[in-house]
Amino acid sequence: MLKMESTTEETAPQPHESHFYHNLVPAYQAVWPAVAKRRIQTNLTALNIPSGAKVLEVGVGTGLSLDSYPRHADVLGVDLSESMLAEAEVLIKKNQWNHVQVRPMNAEELEFDDASFDLVTSFHTISVVSRPDKMMREMVRVCKPGGRILVINHFRSGNPLIARVVDSAGGITRRLGWRTDLEVNELLTELPIEVESCHKNNPLSLFRVLVAKRI
Ligand SMILES: C[S@@+](CC[C@H](N)C(=O)[O-])C[C@H]1O[C@@H](n2cnc3c(N)ncnc32)[C@H](O)[C@@H]1O
Repeated sequence: MLKMESTTEETAPQPHESHFYHNLVPAYQAVWPAVAKRRIQTNLTALNIPSGAKVLEVGVGTGLSLDSYPRHADVLGVDLSESMLAEAEVLIKKNQWNHVQVRPMNAEELEFDDASFDLVTSFHTISVVSRPDKMMREMVRVCKPGGRILVINHFRSGNPLIARVVDSAGGITRRLGWRTDLEVNELLTELPIEVESCHKNNPLSLFRVLVAKRI
């Protein structure tokens, strides 16, 4: 306890330190799916992904989202952590998902040409990378004009009181690998997108669902 209080923000591990996830795979898989899966499923279904759509998921992790994509889409998941991807590979093989592939890659430097995908998604990852603005720019860059971008994440509340309460937990959550103070509007400035919605699936949810169209 004393040790945690005396550690400064500067000496705390950075949110993007992906070895955190390497070490945490078993615990993560026990708890996280119940919380996150339904939210992902609901919002992917709402997009009505068309047949043959090329989809990129950034920060695919262990593949929690993968069974929510229709089999008629062509899905590629990328993540920095090879141990997370190994879990996703097991899932893909077990379910014989021929429409899904995963590859190691840094979200901040996507190795794709501009306008390569019809849909670019990311769930619970943008507050984990070291440069969320760079990741967002990359997601927009690789999305085709007219294509969609879907991001589900915790963003700083627009209510100053709630934001202050959540900010006070920021030191702890940073140690868990993610930040709580990411402002969604700052992330979206000067990007060639039209925000279609930025909502919560229920008022008490900590997570917001951002749907945008690439202009
Ligand atoms: C909280 S997990 C979310 C995983 C998955 N999307 C889910 O909802 O279960 C964050 C993921 O981001 C990945 N990650 C962190 N930094 C990254 C980066 N710079 N590039 C790509 N993936 C990164 C981690 O390895 C981890 O799999």
